[in-house]
Amino acid sequence: MQIPLPCYDDLTASLTEAWGRMARGVKDRRSPFHTPVLATIGPDGSPQARTLVLRAADPATRRLRFHTDWRSQKTLALSAHPRVAVHAYCPASKIQLRLLGTAVHHAPHTEIAREAYARSQEKSRICYAQKLAPGAQMSGPDEAGQIEGGEENFSVIEITIDQLEWLYLYAAGHRRAFYQWQGEALTATWRAP
Ligand SMILES: Cc1cc2nc3c(=O)[nH]c(=O)nc-3n(C[C@H](O)[C@H](O)[C@H](O)COP(=O)(O)O)c2cc1C
Repeated sequence: MQIPLPCYDDLTASLTEAWGRMARGVKDRRSPFHTPVLATIGPDGSPQARTLVLRAADPATRRLRFHTDWRSQKTLALSAHPRVAVHAYCPASKIQLRLLGTAVHHAPHTEIAREAYARSQEKSRICYAQKLAPGAQMSGPDEAGQIEGGEENFSVIEITIDQLEWLYLYAAGHRRAFYQWQGEALTATWRAP
């Protein structure tokens, strides 16, 4: 049988492992933590889930960061319901992370959006230089068009996490841990898997 991760029976170490994997996922394009799912609540109350590239994960501030087009569905969803969920699963390590937090959506040309756009790669910028808004109806598959630049559509979603659930599947016994922050105070508990 495989040896479990050193954090297997350690609540504190499991949390450190969770943030470590997300932080590494930011840089490692092959990691499943590079592309988690962000779930929002639509204006009509329906759930909406989609894959996004994770741009930053900071355990000190408990913040995650994503980039998106300001014209997308997410803008309306986040303005109505800033509570969001993030999900990621790594089949190789058999670790699932489920996070809950509150999002702040930084509009194009705000300081945070400007700085992030300046640091972004040319190939990523193209996504924001689409003439039609993401989700706009088209009469053919190739009508989205391109504009110059794209910074006017570039926005940043910052999420402050207040709940994190760790699930580690392991043959000898799965491990599920739940972490909740109230302000800076952290409560950590094991849960039945
Ligand atoms: C691997 C992958 C990475 C993606 N990365 C992003 C991203 O970083 N930002 C983004 O806005 N959309 C990204 N998308 C597209 C979204 O999943 C989604 O289709 C788009 O943001 C529109 O979502 P919405 O209509 O719910 O706003 C990605 C999709 C995939 C499959």
